[in-house]
Amino acid sequence: MSKRVLTTESGAPVADNQNSATAGVGGPILLQDQHLLEKLARFNRERIPERVVHARGSGAYGHFEVTDDVTGFTSANFLSEVGKKTELFLRFSTVADSLGGADAVRDPRGFAIKFYTEEGNYDLVGNNTPVFFIKDPIKFPDFIHSQKRDPFTGKQEADNVWDFWAHAPEATHQVTWLMGDRGIPASYRHMNGYGSHTYQWTNEQGEAFFVKYHFKTNQGIRSLSAEQGAELAGQDANSHQTDLLQAIERGVNPSWTLYVQVMPAAEAADYRFNPFDLTKVWPHSDYPLQRVGRLVLDRNPDNVFAEVEQAAFSPNNFVPGIGPSPDKMLQGRLFAYADAHRYRLGVNHTQLAVNAPKATEANNYGRDGLMASNAQGRAAKNYEPNSYEGPAETGQALSAPLAVTGHTGTHEAPAHTKDDDFFQAGELFRLMSQDEKSRLVANIAGGLSQVTRDDVIEKNLAHFHAADADYGKRVEEAVRALRED
Ligand code: HEM
Repeated sequence: MSKRVLTTESGAPVADNQNSATAGVGGPILLQDQHLLEKLARFNRERIPERVVHARGSGAYGHFEVTDDVTGFTSANFLSEVGKKTELFLRFSTVADSLGGADAVRDPRGFAIKFYTEEGNYDLVGNNTPVFFIKDPIKFPDFIHSQKRDPFTGKQEADNVWDFWAHAPEATHQVTWLMGDRGIPASYRHMNGYGSHTYQWTNEQGEAFFVKYHFKTNQGIRSLSAEQGAELAGQDANSHQTDLLQAIERGVNPSWTLYVQVMPAAEAADYRFNPFDLTKVWPHSDYPLQRVGRLVLDRNPDNVFAEVEQAAFSPNNFVPGIGPSPDKMLQGRLFAYADAHRYRLGVNHTQLAVNAPKATEANNYGRDGLMASNAQGRAAKNYEPNSYEGPAETGQALSAPLAVTGHTGTHEAPAHTKDDDFFQAGELFRLMSQDEKSRLVANIAGGLSQVTRDDVIEKNLAHFHAADADYGKRVEEAVRALRED
């Protein structure tokens, strides 16, 4: 079989891909060597800005199939019928490290799904944790700065990590989760995914519900101990990437069962916890899990850069029947992601194959910009309204309106009757077996004992004491023992 001809970017044949053109044998290189100039210049431009968080990740395609009727709660078309299947792309990630970081580290994992629905792409951009460290988006850049590399030392610093938490008592719940047994998943297949935030569902009758999403792994939860994680991360930085890729190559397609907790909108105001506070869960005894369907991953992307690095998920991509709640963190995220995509990928990132709608098409009057590849709208009129049958609005709200009251201002999140920063962290601690508690305490003490300032250690200890007296005592003793060593 004859080989295809190697060409320049413009399609002209390349004569020599081994030797650059020179002025005579041994002479300097000629500026007219277009193939060399293009090859070097193109290479210089291969990298794009990595994600400012969740830089390191792995992705796969699959589908979601509805197994249970949820039409009483949402009019979303992709959830409208038992048996209905929707194509999707899912990207898993670690949070704090950069693109070349190791997979087997103690860190939350991203669990970002793009459902290619017939009513447009629905992005659910969650984590493997049901809660988060903070409850107001204004703290997010400070939080992330404290967890990523220090500007002077160039590495993650226990001083910064714990100093932030010393000033964020609301993080105690998520810190307890992260330092516990699920803090280092054995692979992306062996962990749950959560929407984490509260979202709003609206049914055909316009009735509103608040929901929380839980994707339970059908592979079973498997985690690594601190020692196992350190060993694996040192040996094989790509452990989670390899595991996912190879499982799907072998046809061992990972799956998750989606459950939701559903709260009728009228119950939100008097619920014992603020249902829009991302540092809190809704105990299942209050709102039980209801099954919705099954998510399966069955196809690896052909090209990691094109499909995983350039994937763009935005919590603001909703479909009719699903909308935001007033969770302040979620509200901040509704802005942050598409803004990041415009910077990282450009204004036309929605035209890339992984990001474009697949089960419908985008029809609007957004035009042009850098790298417009599909000549949006082509010859059609580029203003609206028009007399030429261009796309027009539906007049149908995507989700139910929210009643608001009060004055504008920088308010703290309203506290409900059972709300404080520590109760649920204590509940999580008390749920653990003695062995789990011992590992949790050892993991916390391992980090906290490295902090150089006593006042920062004291403030953190006070949080564990406030969560549970035994929890505080054990962490304090373990930290003291390590510092006396
Ligand atoms: C106000 C708080 C937050 C802000 C401002 C924020 C901002 C960002 C930004 C700018 C990115 C990079 C996006 C990109 O370049 O494509 C990102 C990625 C991500 N964030 Fe957040 N984030 C916040 C909280 C959260 C929370 C609470 C979760 C989970 C519940 C979360 C999950 C993710 C995931 C999974 C990704 C990676 C998405 C992907 O795979 O491309 N973030 N975040």
